[in-house]
Amino acid sequence: MSKVQYYCAATIDGFIADPNDGLDWLLGYDGHYEGDEADAGPMGEGGSYEPFYEKVGALVSGSTTYEWVLDHLEEWPYAGKPCWILSSRDLRKPDGYEDEIRIVNAPVGEIHDQVLESAGGRNLWVLGGGNVASQYADAGLLDELLLTVVPVVLGAGKPLFAEPLPGGPMVLTGTTTFRNGMVELRYSLQS
Ligand SMILES: NC(=O)c1ccc[n+]([C@@H]2O[C@H](COP(=O)([O-])OP(=O)(O)OC[C@H]3O[C@@H](n4cnc5c(N)ncnc54)[C@H](OP(=O)(O)O)[C@@H]3O)[C@@H](O)[C@H]2O)c1
Repeated sequence: MSKVQYYCAATIDGFIADPNDGLDWLLGYDGHYEGDEADAGPMGEGGSYEPFYEKVGALVSGSTTYEWVLDHLEEWPYAGKPCWILSSRDLRKPDGYEDEIRIVNAPVGEIHDQVLESAGGRNLWVLGGGNVASQYADAGLLDELLLTVVPVVLGAGKPLFAEPLPGGPMVLTGTTTFRNGMVELRYSLQS
């Protein structure tokens, strides 16, 4: 059965981007772990990204996150997977991905059946940002948070969630320590 997963990285003080939507703290990160045992880095060989991404059938993203990807990456990184972009605006699409990228202006609950169906039985990756993640949590549609904590402090920025999480505390289901000093925390939101 498909799971709805918010997979992202945040600073240790809970920001997924700096106040100007910058990710230098993540892309330029160069830390390490000094304990006994650790896995490879989350984005590297043997890390958590590849096995996570293999199980993703479709993605959903807010427009700010989408525009960051378009402005900073040379190639569309999610080729072959339907990607739903939430926006009230008419956004551009990279050449060749006119069908895979679907721009919609609707509450997440209204399009959920259609979005899940496009995942073909695999998982739905809520790419972010905090605005969209909160809409999924508020609608009771978010199953898991897979959070890579990066040991830097920004003091200000774009929050992991834009709103308080409804319900009780999340349930910790697993952790992974990486050799670069990041830690992945896995939480379940649904009881
Ligand atoms: N560290 C990480 O792993 C990570 C992951 C993801 C994102 N990020 C960063 O987080 C930042 C963005 O997060 P954010 O929370 O500010 O923004 P966001 O969730 O990416 O985008 C929010 C925008 O999407 C549109 N939107 C959202 N829901 C909608 C709906 N239901 N219907 C129609 N339009 C809707 C609205 O803009 P319009 O209607 O004006 O288009 C809204 O202002 C970016 O800097 C991004 O790079 C970091």
